Amino acid sequence: LLTLGLVAIGGYLLGSIPFGVILTRAAGAGDVRNIGSGNIGATNVLRTGRKDLAIATLILDAGKGAVALLIARHLFGEAAGAIAGGAAFMGHLFPVWLGFKGGKGVATFFGLILAACWPLGLMAAATWLIVAFALRYSSLAALVAAALTPLYALLPLPTLGLPAPAAILILAVFTAVLIYIRHHENIARLLKGAEPKIGAKKA
Ligand code: G3P
Repeated sequence: LLTLGLVAIGGYLLGSIPFGVILTRAAGAGDVRNIGSGNIGATNVLRTGRKDLAIATLILDAGKGAVALLIARHLFGEAAGAIAGGAAFMGHLFPVWLGFKGGKGVATFFGLILAACWPLGLMAAATWLIVAFALRYSSLAALVAAALTPLYALLPLPTLGLPAPAAILILAVFTAVLIYIRHHENIARLLKGAEPKIGAKKA
């Protein structure tokens, strides 16, 4: 139990590194929290006009979730990996360094799922890409991917490691629910037709 507590704390601390804020500030692109949606994620970093910083934010926010899960799984097994991953996700959403006002968890979610079970991660990422390219809404793409990933996790595809182990299914459901909660403003804007599309000039 002590081990799992330490795993959770370590995961949280890793997940709480706000790469979007760090990168935009370090690059002199202003603070991402003052532009667009005010969110600290890659989608909003893109609204600074710096595609390179947005891609770096996406990779690092995904990477921190993946690293937390992989290290804990390597050391302590599947359940510990899922706990570290879930804690990293919570760290991204509620980072102590930003007064617990963090991101929406989409990049970290993809990193976690890819690390947990890469075929599942590829299905989730493909879902995001298809919706994003077809409809040009980052948030809607994330909401569709988050909703479908737990269902993909149930598919009977043993050669791809599916259905996923219970710990991964629970992680997918837990993160999906939080992604929906964190996107309530995006959902309201989508319903009003007021959500900015990817690449739109104004947010
Ligand atoms: O990754 C978060 C995305 O789904 C929405 O971000 O900045 O448009 O609220 P944003």
